[in-house]
Amino acid sequence: MIASGRLPPPRQPVVRLRGITKTYRIGREIEVRALRGVDLDVMPGEFVAIMGPSGSGKSTLMNVLGCLDAPDAGTYELAGQTVASLSDGALAAIRNRHVGFVFQTFNLLPRLNAIENVELPLVYGGDGRDRRPRAAAALEQVGLGDRLHHRPSELSGGQQQRVAIARALLNDPSMILADEPTGNLDSRSSAEILAIFQRLNAQGKTVVMVTHEPDVAAHCRRIVRMRDGVVAHDDPVAAPRRAEEEIAAGIGAAE
Ligand SMILES: Nc1ncnc2c1ncn2[C@@H]1O[C@H](COP(=O)(O)OP(=O)(O)OP(=O)(O)O)[C@@H](O)[C@H]1O
Ligand SMILES: [Mg+2]
Repeated sequence: MIASGRLPPPRQPVVRLRGITKTYRIGREIEVRALRGVDLDVMPGEFVAIMGPSGSGKSTLMNVLGCLDAPDAGTYELAGQTVASLSDGALAAIRNRHVGFVFQTFNLLPRLNAIENVELPLVYGGDGRDRRPRAAAALEQVGLGDRLHHRPSELSGGQQQRVAIARALLNDPSMILADEPTGNLDSRSSAEILAIFQRLNAQGKTVVMVTHEPDVAAHCRRIVRMRDGVVAHDDPVAAPRRAEEEIAAGIGAAE
């Protein structure tokens, strides 16, 4: 019951896609229609898995969501702003505020240690004040407070992915976009990454994660299935699995 009789303010999607299309052209002859009209809303605080066969457009969709690539047609509103209408500066600002990207292959610079990799986004843009302590705090958040000065080659795959998550968290974005973040990891490391995402999600962050593995997707609260460049199915997960509990019980995520 709302005592005043007034309705709560309507919640705005963090992502609103309508009729998004993307065609890749290779030379003059070949066209690949990677996205053929994607409609998708993601509300703040959701944890969404994107699944679908290889080539169905998942990574293309993630690149559009992260403003790394522009669609050919359709509209994308990120936190209420129409992305296509923004200047480069405004686009960079909204992306900094709302999007942290995590990749399957971690994308860390091999010559830099963990803390230098994490603070890198602040070296190139954003607010560079206090970047050392902020990077250290982000690494603490993912359980790597004791690995600040290790280089990627001195870390396990799961630890490298946690460095990449710390880097994605540095600007405190409202949304994490992760394209197969557990694709190169064993089941125990996968469970640790999922536990971090579930914890961040419980703290209010929106998480959108591509995965091929049903056991990984079962930790999300909603599963969107792509097929041939469109959303084919979109279903809630009745009882998401809890990675923290599985780790405590000695079970990996993908076993
Ligand atoms: N830069 C590109 N140039 C040309 N075609 C591309 C490019 N990127 C993707 N494609 C094509 O677009 C289609 C969708 O690719 P996308 O990478 O989005 O698929 P995906 O669902 O992420 O697949 P996977 O599960 O293998 O990662 C594929 O047919 C792919 O070959
Ligand atoms: Mg992909």
